Amino acid sequence: MSPKQDLNEIRPGMGEQIQEIQKSSYEQLLQGNRDFVKAETDIDPEYFSRLARGQSPQVLWIGCSDSRVPANELTNTKPGEVFVHRNIANVCVHSDMNMLSVLDYAVNVLKVKHVIVAGHYGCGGVLAAMGSKQFGIIDNWLRHIKDVYRLHSHELDLISDEKERSNRLVELNTIEQVYNLCKTTIVQNAWKEREDLQVHGWVIDISTGLVKDLKVSCSNTDNLGKVFDLS
Ligand code: CO
Repeated sequence: MSPKQDLNEIRPGMGEQIQEIQKSSYEQLLQGNRDFVKAETDIDPEYFSRLARGQSPQVLWIGCSDSRVPANELTNTKPGEVFVHRNIANVCVHSDMNMLSVLDYAVNVLKVKHVIVAGHYGCGGVLAAMGSKQFGIIDNWLRHIKDVYRLHSHELDLISDEKERSNRLVELNTIEQVYNLCKTTIVQNAWKEREDLQVHGWVIDISTGLVKDLKVSCSNTDNLGKVFDLS
């Protein structure tokens, strides 16, 4: 039995109705693309032909996949200005070839000057990592955030309000991912060659749209501790 037949058994016509809604939200995307292209080329007819010539972004954004935290919109930047990597809860693990490839390309080929780890309050990944419910394959990914909790449990366990505690874990998770990036040979080798690469930690407050700079910016190995100083 197809899902549509299934829904029609619950309520006649419901399957068709849902298919119509799905189709219109899909069509909306294509129409949205045409509108976007028209709006840009009305202002600047060369906009896309110039973009096609290449990119030289100054920033790598590593953020959460959450649909409410898009890099360009939140920073009022345009296509071509921000190189982006996103995953659930903006986790940076040094065995993640995907993240490392993006980082390597951004740092060594594009020569970005800023790498920003952008977490956000109310992050579903962080909230899930605080609980004991199993969610399936994602649990393996969330385990990294549980490690962050364990590392900072002395501070977190003292916060009785659950929302406040999860907000602080969002901040600490972001800070730990900044630290993780600084531990990579990619960042450390780049620091040997140039002084203009900085790694930052931000948290976005979805309820205001505003960014909180966590003031943990790093541009050298000074605060990493001896064991992670690979120079
Ligand atoms: Co999130």
